Amino acid sequence: MHSFMFRANAVLTFGVTVLALLCCLASVSDNLHHAKPSVDLQILRLESFQRLPNGNDEVKLVLNITADLQSLFTWNTKQLFVFVAAEYATPKNVLNQISLWDTIVERKENATIAQLTRNKYSFVDQGNNLRGLNFNLTMYWNVMPLTGAMYTGKTVVPGLRLPQQYR
Ligand SMILES: *[C@@H]1O[C@H](CO)[C@@H](O)[C@H](O)[C@H]1NC(C)=O
Ligand SMILES: *[C@@H]1O[C@H](CO)[C@@H](O)[C@H](O)[C@H]1NC(C)=O
Ligand SMILES: *[C@@H]1O[C@H](CO)[C@@H](O)[C@H](O)[C@H]1NC(C)=O
Repeated sequence: MHSFMFRANAVLTFGVTVLALLCCLASVSDNLHHAKPSVDLQILRLESFQRLPNGNDEVKLVLNITADLQSLFTWNTKQLFVFVAAEYATPKNVLNQISLWDTIVERKENATIAQLTRNKYSFVDQGNNLRGLNFNLTMYWNVMPLTGAMYTGKTVVPGLRLPQQYR
């Protein structure tokens, strides 16, 4: 009896060690995989640009989001969290980041994105900083693996500009 328990414990320990080792190998081999996603972000239309009654600026856009993120998927990929953000600097903050759109991709065959869409979340500045503003549109992807650490990548479309006038 005694020796049976001992054996069971030894087998269990060995099993756990092998599992831990496999997990490490999994994330190491995953890191060797260099993905090359292709991304194209366009602003098709500025639908409206106004100052809200509370004094904050608001922008409504139509975005053309095209991406092929299939190469991010390996056998160790659980899902991708993808979002597109407007990023800009104001006198108060070096980086303002406003998420405009997001999606979760759970399968490689769903990792090609072609979306003509209004901004899903509102593009509102805390203040009236948006007239004539230079901003970037950035697509981020958070890659959530089955084992190992999450990592993030991005593609930046810099040098976009809002008009000087509300419309
Ligand atoms: C959206 O972007 C894709 C990729 O650049 C392009 O092929 C397509 O024509 C664009 N759609 C519109 C409506 O401009
Ligand atoms: C916008 O993109 C440019 C070029 O990648 C970068 O130098 C700049 O810091 C970005 N601006 C913000 C606010 O992130
Ligand atoms: C994901 O792909 C499967 C087929 O591969 C399809 O049936 C499903 O509708 C897709 N889901 C989304 C959200 O596009």
